[in-house]
Amino acid sequence: MRARDPETRRPADTTDFPYSIYLPEAARVLNVNPMTELDSLFELELESGRALGHAPGQFVQVSVFGFGECPISISSSPTRGPRFELSIRRVGEVTNALHRLRSGDSVGIRGPLGHGFDVRELHGHDMLVIAGGCALAPARSLIQYVLDERQRFGSFHVLYGARSPNELLFRDELARWGQRDDVHCHVIVDHADESWRGRAGVVTKLFDELPELDRERTMVAVIGPPIMFRFVMLEVLALGIPQNHVYCSIERRMKCGIGKCGHCQANDVYVCMEGPVFKYGRLKALREAIE
Ligand SMILES: Cc1cc2nc3c(=O)[nH]c(=O)nc-3n(C[C@H](O)[C@H](O)[C@H](O)COP(=O)(O)OP(=O)(O)OC[C@H]3O[C@@H](n4cnc5c(N)ncnc54)[C@H](O)[C@@H]3O)c2cc1C
Ligand code: FES
Repeated sequence: MRARDPETRRPADTTDFPYSIYLPEAARVLNVNPMTELDSLFELELESGRALGHAPGQFVQVSVFGFGECPISISSSPTRGPRFELSIRRVGEVTNALHRLRSGDSVGIRGPLGHGFDVRELHGHDMLVIAGGCALAPARSLIQYVLDERQRFGSFHVLYGARSPNELLFRDELARWGQRDDVHCHVIVDHADESWRGRAGVVTKLFDELPELDRERTMVAVIGPPIMFRFVMLEVLALGIPQNHVYCSIERRMKCGIGKCGHCQANDVYVCMEGPVFKYGRLKALREAIE
């Protein structure tokens, strides 16, 4: 079977995959690093040694024997080698079972699944990434990609908002990005506490940190909960950025991840197949996905 180019979005024809989308592949947990009270970062590698070959924005189905499986976004960039990272929030049965794993334990992985960002289309552009809450997990894959392929991009802006300082993901990396002079990274929290020295408010407040953007050169990625989209998109469109320069990654309930069960359906679309990353123009037509 022909190998896929990791930079392209996966083909819609599932027979074209260089791996089975039905069979979990064994993967080893290499490291588990707590990031918040509920979120930990898992470093994994497939036991076959195969690189995932994902695009930023894609997800995998992770299974724990005896507990089940759940969809999790890939948090690391394909440019970082065969090892990959997943940021997992402990909320229920499967994610709690994942949080009990230690390095050396095994999980099952199906994927990568879904459509991520078309990074080839992004090459040569200025980039603005806007993320909210735990959506920094998928956004980080794209951010790492832009940083690793920095010469292919123009100016680079990241805006990130979380509910409170305790809920910020990747705090060390946010601090490092904030110190680089080739990325302009701004962070805000809804509710500050005494430990917080930064800005407080909703993520749209950070638009006043942006310099004047070249609207024809800028590509935008918006990744967050549906409520964030409505307000962020008002700001993005007010900047005069063309709608076909805006990618949105949406959150949706999923079960199979491969277009079989219908759990993720929004209007006439299976989000697991056509998304979770959509062009804004397409997403606007999927009212059930953003309302
Ligand atoms: C494409 C995609 C990417 C995701 N990426 C991540 C990620 O990077 N990190 C992460 O921590 N989580 C991610 N999630 C959410 C994750 O899939 C759910 O938290 C997980 O399925 C919960 O499983 P559980 O058995 O632990 O919880 P359950 O016992 O099934 O449910 C516990 C809680 O989680 C919510 N939930 C259950 N299933 C889902 C689901 N499929 N999607 C969303 N919420 C759900 C329920 O409302 C409930 O409140 C993603 C979901 C999707 C669809
Ligand atoms: S999750 Fe089953 S069809 Fe999309």
